[in-house]
Amino acid sequence: MTEAAFTQRVFSGIQPSGGLTLGNYLGALKRFVEMQDEGGYETIYCIVDMHAITAKLLDPATLAQNTRELCAGFIAAGIDPSRSILFNQSQVAEHAQLAWIFNCIARLGWMQRMTQFKDKAGKNAQNESLGLFAYPALMAADILAYHATHVPVGEDQKQHLELTRDIAAKFNNDYGVEFFPMTEPVIEGAATRVMSLRDGSKKMSKSDPSDMSRINLTDDADAIAQKIRKARTDPEPLPSEAKGLEERPEARNLVNIYAALADMSVDQVLAEMGGQQFSEFKPRLADLAVARMSPISTEMSRLMEDPAEIDRILAGGAERARAVAAPIVKRTYEIVGMVGS
Ligand code: TYM
Repeated sequence: MTEAAFTQRVFSGIQPSGGLTLGNYLGALKRFVEMQDEGGYETIYCIVDMHAITAKLLDPATLAQNTRELCAGFIAAGIDPSRSILFNQSQVAEHAQLAWIFNCIARLGWMQRMTQFKDKAGKNAQNESLGLFAYPALMAADILAYHATHVPVGEDQKQHLELTRDIAAKFNNDYGVEFFPMTEPVIEGAATRVMSLRDGSKKMSKSDPSDMSRINLTDDADAIAQKIRKARTDPEPLPSEAKGLEERPEARNLVNIYAALADMSVDQVLAEMGGQQFSEFKPRLADLAVARMSPISTEMSRLMEDPAEIDRILAGGAERARAVAAPIVKRTYEIVGMVGS
């Protein structure tokens, strides 16, 4: 069976495992909005609540609250639930159904190579959940249940997207079909890997124990200004060309953040700011971050006043998502030989 050209379809997801960080916003959410607004794609965005319990079980009320808050964050940042499909993963059972098939396609050796599992599990791998280990197969199912052709993500998800292609290729090859597309990762922009404000060699992450290491979408103007003022830097002024940032991870991180927030290239930023000391540059960065982020967090709080409306949006999105995924997963089960009506 040969499928004709695949529809141009974007799928991506964010875990409701904590609040949104500036890394999530610049590496993912801001790009989600741009791809929605560009047109030319069907856009599907998912709050991946099933992924959020793989590292540790969350308190049930916290998981529900995080899910609604993340939905509010998507909308506040510019996702329009009438133009994009916006929903939470657990409401569409096809994700888990396809993940089972992919658990039987993926090889143990492939999973053991996943650096994110190794980083998260550390020396304690024997005590991690089976779900954390199998997680990339569920992620492949998230994407391929929609035959998504494009997946916007930050740099840290690149290996998982390579695995998604390996799973699609092995399925197609084992069953002699051309059923699943080879999904393209979309890793673009000046801030595909936003680093910790305290350590330029570590990714900015919601799980970092130090709140000073990250900017949360819900931080107020004072907190943002303080975190940027205290961000680690070096004593040199800013260079006038990108090459001058090569051995300066902390300086590079702040310039990348500025460029992404201002929709400028790194070269443009440095052409304008080269020669400045951090004492000048940091307040400008803080002002820009506050100007970009505070309208989002204000709108988020407003939306959170009506959680029933958020639940309605998620339910409506789930219904539309199911309409896309159900025939694809049904066909997958037929290809595999599962008897159905
Ligand atoms: P998660 O929830 O860890 O992160 C969500 C998105 O934010 C990006 N990101 C960053 N980008 C730049 N700099 C950072 N410091 C930074 N931190 C996070 C991530 O790359 C991601 O794009 N496995 C995924 C969720 C997922 C998914 C999917 C994504 C599940 N199924 C299907 C795409 C398609 C994750 O844990 O992302």
